[in-house]
Amino acid sequence: MRKKEFFERMQGLGIALTFDDVRLKTGYSEVMPKEVSLETRFSRNIHLKIPIVSAAMDTVTEYEMAIELAKLGGIGIIHRGLTPEEQARQVARVKFHLNGLIDRPICVNESQRIEEVLRLREEKGYTFHTFPVINGEGRLVGILTKNDFDFCDDKSRLVREIMSAQLVLGKPDTTLEQAYKIMIGEKKKVFPLVDESGSIIGMYIFSDVQRIILGSSSTYNVDSKGQLRVGAAVGVGDEAFERLERLVRKNIDIVVIDTAHGDSSNVIETTKRVKEKYPNLDVVAGNISEPESAERLIKAGADGIKIGQGPGSICTTRYISGTGCPQVTAVYNCSRVADVHDIPVCADGGLVYSGDIAIAIGAGAHSVMLGNMLAGTKETPRETIFHNGRYWKIYRGMGSLGALEEHAGSRERYRQEGVESSELVPEGIEGLVPYKGELRTVLTQYIGGLRSGMGYVGAHTIQELREKADFWRISRAGRDESHPHNILITREPPNYPGSVR
Ligand code: XMP
Repeated sequence: MRKKEFFERMQGLGIALTFDDVRLKTGYSEVMPKEVSLETRFSRNIHLKIPIVSAAMDTVTEYEMAIELAKLGGIGIIHRGLTPEEQARQVARVKFHLNGLIDRPICVNESQRIEEVLRLREEKGYTFHTFPVINGEGRLVGILTKNDFDFCDDKSRLVREIMSAQLVLGKPDTTLEQAYKIMIGEKKKVFPLVDESGSIIGMYIFSDVQRIILGSSSTYNVDSKGQLRVGAAVGVGDEAFERLERLVRKNIDIVVIDTAHGDSSNVIETTKRVKEKYPNLDVVAGNISEPESAERLIKAGADGIKIGQGPGSICTTRYISGTGCPQVTAVYNCSRVADVHDIPVCADGGLVYSGDIAIAIGAGAHSVMLGNMLAGTKETPRETIFHNGRYWKIYRGMGSLGALEEHAGSRERYRQEGVESSELVPEGIEGLVPYKGELRTVLTQYIGGLRSGMGYVGAHTIQELREKADFWRISRAGRDESHPHNILITREPPNYPGSVR
């Protein structure tokens, strides 16, 4: 029975399924796990090297998580519990973590004296020695480098007498890879980009470019300028635009319209308005769980959609409101609609084991958004707590009482703006998760599990897993059999937290 028939039969019986209800069928395979490609897309234009997105939650994603996850190939979505200013500041920290293209290099004037430049360096605390030199009309005429400073024995000399004037110049749209080739070919350590009038609009430095292109940086998820990719969550209406204005100035790669009920007039309206105002910015809209909702968001202009209403480990929406579709069926149904429009789908919430990532993708997701699976890592916000003989970190729902009380963004996400604090109705809980150590170590296990699943299914790529996957519906006995049984575990494995659902 193929996947389509499987889900149609289930739906014919009015049954929706989630992770623990199913397992992927194994199939003939020539695929070695270490050989699979995990490249995928989060949205129409935003590519990922691994299908992992970190949740826009105040206990999961701030700049440290976003930096580390982008270095490992995924993307972090900075939460909107932060003020618009702070959120934009954190985005800038991610974008400037690697100096791919230096956007607005600090320039000096050709008629300044070297001693003045050294004083400026001292006063401003600049750690670098490379300064583009401009003339009175603002045109680039030379470059000062560390060598020029080192070999200048008379600091009262003018910049124009010391600078190197033999420059190799690039066009404004030169990519990191092109710059790297040119710098190697021309043996230049500095490569300025100029516009038609000869004004400098950016600059590549060889050591930075080389660090990004070579070595460990092959996993980095970077934009065309070599800067790490990052996303940010926004709400609806004016709140979204207030944030967007600042975020766009910081070169945000993608925004997520982050709501508990994406199939609502204000999300659809906001999606349309954002795409009108910022046609080149990718927008992921959500959350939804029904195929008709996917159709409406895509028609409104969404470049990606996020699926998940109530599957999350900290969510109580399903019990508080009595609504929501179990996640695997929701992902399957929404992805069928999205596939027609070639729009990527992100499965958000409810994943606990690495096998759940393979199942979510098999059901139709292009990527997964993780809260609980990343909570407790070193890179999450907030301190580590020592309690009952072990280390923990706080993890809480953005609709929990604490988050609703603290953040206007959370009250808006759960449609409770202007509600008295004694009358807030939470849709999430607050708690502790064990400290998990560094993200890199944790992700090694998750990615290893996904690779293994792809090997069992016989899928070389994420797209092949989406196409080839077929499912077994498992019984309670099948689930019990799938967990370790009849044994006292004496050594905790790094990738199996026990039977936790
Ligand atoms: P996991 O299972 O990874 O889920 O912990 C994370 C996702 O859950 C959503 N979220 C919430 N849903 N009440 C909800 O119903 C909440 O308080 C809440 N907080 C987060 C969100 O989509 C996140 O990515």
